[in-house]
Amino acid sequence: MLLHSLFIFACSMALALGASLQQVPNFGSNPSNIRMYIYVPDRVAANPAVIVALHPCGGTASQWYSGTSLPSYADQNGFILIYPETPNMSNCWDVNNAASLTHRGGGDALGIVNMVTYTLQKYTANPARVFVMGFSSGGMMTNVLAGSYPDVFAAGSANSGTAFACFAGSASATPAGPNQTCAQGQIQHSSTEWGSFVRNSYPGYAGRRPRMLIWHGLDDTLVRPECAKQALAQWGDVLGVSFNRNVAGVPSSQFTQMVYGDGSQLQGFFAQGVGHAPMADVGLMLKFFGI
Ligand SMILES: *[C@@H]1O[C@H](CO)[C@@H](O)[C@H](O)[C@H]1NC(C)=O
Ligand SMILES: *[C@@H]1O[C@H](CO)[C@@H](O)[C@H](O)[C@H]1NC(C)=O
Repeated sequence: MLLHSLFIFACSMALALGASLQQVPNFGSNPSNIRMYIYVPDRVAANPAVIVALHPCGGTASQWYSGTSLPSYADQNGFILIYPETPNMSNCWDVNNAASLTHRGGGDALGIVNMVTYTLQKYTANPARVFVMGFSSGGMMTNVLAGSYPDVFAAGSANSGTAFACFAGSASATPAGPNQTCAQGQIQHSSTEWGSFVRNSYPGYAGRRPRMLIWHGLDDTLVRPECAKQALAQWGDVLGVSFNRNVAGVPSSQFTQMVYGDGSQLQGFFAQGVGHAPMADVGLMLKFFGI
């Protein structure tokens, strides 16, 4: 009987000690009432890196926590993961609103940035090593955050997303909304115009810009691969790097890697035979981030 109780006690201790996804109720100003979840590994590194991981439309923090191998990398490498969650617009991020497209303008973007500030303070994390990644609506929001908060994010990885400001002027940014002009790749701008949307979101900013990875499936009909080309044109203009070369088979056989400049600032990845799906290679992404 005693042994049995001790066994149960030991098991519940083991469960209690394992890191898990936790909600943080009060992280600071939250203009659009979104939610913060965090994953802090048991062995967190000193001065750790922070990665914001953004769910797709219809998704949740816990869905996206299970959706990639990032948590197990966090266990190995000691970085912290923030999983924001939006209950609005069919759980899609507000990539269409001027507030999020403006530095410190409010919206989901400011709420997410305040989650980062909270995490940097609470865990003495490294402000020079804050990154953002996401899929679909989360990929769109990755480009939005990298655009309007270049002072916060060192690098980003957008999977099946759209360029910064692609949805500007649309009443919503959901796959069910009446306005699919952006998602269908039909917004026409020059590279300089795309780049100016980013520059104009934070006038006078002259610091470094986030380094970017852009991933897209060539068979995606929900968010067309054209959207990734627009994002690459935008970041090429903002970062001042031009297309250099295609490399077949990186990171695996179905991909073509597009290298801009020497590849340290901007790379694109187009996957053959892949539709609207998360495909970003997490190992490659972390290497690019410098983790
Ligand atoms: C999200 O929903 C909350 C609660 O209904 C609301 O206060 C907030 O304005 C909404 N945000 C957006 C961006 O729609
Ligand atoms: C549809 O959205 C685009 C931005 O994605 C915007 O430029 C356009 O004005 C919108 N059209 C309508 C009819 O609202």
